[in-house]
Amino acid sequence: MGRKIKFGIIGTGAIAQMHAAALQNLDNAELVAVFDKVETRAKEFADKYGVRYVTSFEQFLADPEVEAVTVATPTGVHGDVAIPAARAGKHILCEKPLDVTLEKADAIIRTCQEHNVRLSAVFQSRFARAVQAIKKAYDAGRFGKVTLASTQVKWFRSQEYYDSAGWRGTWQLDGGGALMNQSIHTIDLLLYINGDAREVFAYSGILSHERIEVEDNLCAVVKYENGSMGTIEVSTSCAPGFPRRVEISGTNGSVVMEGDKIIRWEFVDNTPEDDQIRVSCGESEGMQGGSGDPMAIGHCGHAKQIHDLAEAIIGGYEPMLSGREGRRAVKFICGIYESCRTGVPYKFENANFIWHL
Ligand SMILES: NC(=O)c1ccc[n+]([C@@H]2O[C@H](COP(=O)([O-])OP(=O)(O)OC[C@H]3O[C@@H](n4cnc5c(N)ncnc54)[C@H](O)[C@@H]3O)[C@@H](O)[C@H]2O)c1
Repeated sequence: MGRKIKFGIIGTGAIAQMHAAALQNLDNAELVAVFDKVETRAKEFADKYGVRYVTSFEQFLADPEVEAVTVATPTGVHGDVAIPAARAGKHILCEKPLDVTLEKADAIIRTCQEHNVRLSAVFQSRFARAVQAIKKAYDAGRFGKVTLASTQVKWFRSQEYYDSAGWRGTWQLDGGGALMNQSIHTIDLLLYINGDAREVFAYSGILSHERIEVEDNLCAVVKYENGSMGTIEVSTSCAPGFPRRVEISGTNGSVVMEGDKIIRWEFVDNTPEDDQIRVSCGESEGMQGGSGDPMAIGHCGHAKQIHDLAEAIIGGYEPMLSGREGRRAVKFICGIYESCRTGVPYKFENANFIWHL
C-alpha cells in the first residue's frame, strides 16, 4: 500500500463531517486526530470516526503523527489556527473562504510559504466533471470570443440556520453573507474559468432575515479582464432554493451548468465528444451544492480535493487549488462589497480595500 498522509481536523462542526467522511475512503490520506474548542463536540466526533481527540490546541499541534491540518473553524478564525499550524510544520487544508479579509488570507499564504508547507484552499466544486469539461473547452478556445460569464445562486437559508451558531451572519467571523459564505464557490468558478475581474458594481441588502449584519441578497454587474461581462445574483432568501447556475457564452458556443450538471452544451462546431459530454456531465455526481440545506452537499468534491492535496504533499508540488488560487475569490468579493459600501463601481487595478470590518 502507498503512503497515506495523516490528517487532523480543527473544528468538528458541520463541514468537518464531510472531511471525515471523505477521509474514510481515500488511498492516500486518513484521519488520525481532531480538536475542537468545545471538548464534548470533539469527543463525540472522534468516537464516531474512531480517531483520537485532544483537549488543547497546543497538544494538537505538538502531535508528531499529524502531518496535515484541516481548518474547519468559523471563517474569521481560519488564520488564527492555520498560521500556528503552519509554523508547527503542518500542511494546511483550509475551508473556504481562506479568511474574512485579503490581509488575513495573505498572512496564511505567506506563513505557509515561509515554513515550506503546502496550502490548499477548499473549493471542492472545481473538481466537478462538469466544471473540468467547461474549463477544457474554454482553454481550447471553443467559446470563440467570450462575451458573458454569469452566475445565479438563488438559495434559501432559514432564520434557524443563522441563529444556529453565533458566528453566522457576522462580518467579523462569516466575512459576508450570501456572497462570501454561500456563493463563493460559483464566484470561484467564474474566475477559474473566465479569469479575473477588472471592475464591478453591486447592490446588496438584508431582505428577509433578522439579527444578521451581512447581506442575504446581492446583485452585481462585472467587467472581466478579457473584456467579457456578466451578472451575479445571489441570495439566501429564495425558497425553497434552486440549484446554482453558471453560464458562459461566446461567439462560438454557450454552456449552462446547473448544480453540478451541464444542462446546455452547444457549440457552433459540434464534435462527437460533445455528445459524450452531454451524457457524462448531464448526470449529477453528488456535488450540486446545498441550495436549501447546507449539509446536502455530499463529500465527493472534498474527497477529490483532499486526494489532490495528499498527492501534492507526497510529490512535493503545488496542489491544484493553492492558497493563491483560493485568494482570488476573496479579493473579488471584497471588491464587490466595496462597491456596495461606496455606491460606485470598484476598479480592481486600485485593489486598495477599506475594510468593511
Ligand atoms: N466547502 C463547503 O462547501 C463548506 C460548507 C459549509 C461550511 N464551510 C466552511 O467551513 C467552516 C466551518 O463552517 P461550519 O458550518 O462547519 O461551522 P460550525 O459552526 O458547524 O463548526 C465550527 C466548529 O469550530 C469550532 N471552533 C470554533 N473556534 C474554534 C477554535 N478556535 N479552535 C477549535 N475549534 C473551534 C466550533 O466549536 C464548532 O464546532 C466555515 O469557514 C465555512 O465557511 C464550507
